[in-house]
Amino acid sequence: MTRMLLAVALAAAAVPSLAADGAALYAKACASCHGANGKGGSAPAVAGKSASFVTEVIDMHSPAMKLKKLSAPEVAAVAKHVAAMK
Ligand code: HEC
Repeated sequence: MTRMLLAVALAAAAVPSLAADGAALYAKACASCHGANGKGGSAPAVAGKSASFVTEVIDMHSPAMKLKKLSAPEVAAVAKHVAAMK
């Protein structure tokens, strides 16, 4: 019984890391340059840019952003988060 409860607890704890959290990824990988709310900082404002544009930029442009080594699902989650920012 204890073992089963432990398995359930571990499975529950693993869920958030499976679904990429765009907001958390943005805070970790982008906010230092683009600002916590995407309004810009040392880099241009990104809030509200389309997800496809953001994906393209992360994938193909700035070396600074490429360094972050985000996986495809992580890039998609960050792009979605940026597009939803106001
Ligand atoms: C080390 C600083 C730095 C980090 C970290 C960074 N960026 Fe950037 N970003 C820049 C700079 C500088 C530019 C503008 C020059 C360029 O395109 O290289 C830029 C440009 C952009 C642009 C294009 C803006 C425009 O209108 O042309 C987007 C979109 C963008 N970044 C998104 C992101 C996202 C999303 C992340 C996190 C995954 C991120 N950036 C992380 C520095 C950074």
